[in-house]
Amino acid sequence: MAQVLGGITTSHIPAIGKAIDEGLQDTPYWKSFFDAYQPVREWLNEQQPDVAIIFYNDHGLEFFIDRKPTFAIGVAEEYHNADEGWGIKPIPTIRGEAELAWHICNELVDQEFDITICQEMKVDHGLTVPMQLMWPGYQYDHIKVIPVCINVEQHPMPSPKRCYDLGKAMGDAIRNFDKDLKVVVLGTGGLSHQLDGERAGFINKEFDLYCMDKIVNEPEALTKLTVRDLVEQAGSQGPELNMWLGMRGVLNPQLTVKHSNYHIPISNTGAGLLLLE
Ligand code: DHB
Ligand code: FE
Repeated sequence: MAQVLGGITTSHIPAIGKAIDEGLQDTPYWKSFFDAYQPVREWLNEQQPDVAIIFYNDHGLEFFIDRKPTFAIGVAEEYHNADEGWGIKPIPTIRGEAELAWHICNELVDQEFDITICQEMKVDHGLTVPMQLMWPGYQYDHIKVIPVCINVEQHPMPSPKRCYDLGKAMGDAIRNFDKDLKVVVLGTGGLSHQLDGERAGFINKEFDLYCMDKIVNEPEALTKLTVRDLVEQAGSQGPELNMWLGMRGVLNPQLTVKHSNYHIPISNTGAGLLLLE
């Protein structure tokens, strides 16, 4: 049967991709941010997952504001990125895990989740930047990806509880998949940030640290929050926390924190990194 090895939360800021392109990892601004990923990379190297399920949000590359699925899941054999206006270069093909993805989609529809199933989709920085952080030098050919895209750009957005429940249903689907696959789950984005408007640059460290604690020890507390609460507490892009809740829903209630790091600011964002086994 398929087995969930653990989960990872990470920021997906486009500036990280640009810093990688320009080789700035050891410069004063970036060094401690990038160094914090080393234990996660080592864990991935030891565990050798076959599949990465990546909860992320599309910022307008594939789903613009005229067409916004609440939950979109990729069932393609491969994925590509494209220029989305941040200056991030195209990266090598990302391989898809279509068979498990179809199984998850079937199970989710049975469980009454109204998902959008994508046989083709471009993936944006929400997915590609974390791939580059986890497997530097584009060394990700051994891993197959299932993109799970949650709308947090255009209201109305799904609640934190709905995203957690989606993750739980996905966890059940993964665990009853009849193949010996090792799965790692990523939740990308967050933590607090607001990219425009009167509060542009808003970061709430206290709330970010609260979220990092609760996502581990009491995710149900975060499911009590509304999208409006997230906007108030974590800025207009704060609802990206929903990716973390999707990831957490897949994992067992009991887990071990293998690594944790919080870094502010990177670009305009509080960047939270967790490795949960
Ligand atoms: C930034 C953060 C994001 O999550 C994003 O999607 C784009 C930009 C930032 O902090 O610059
Ligand atoms: Fe984002």
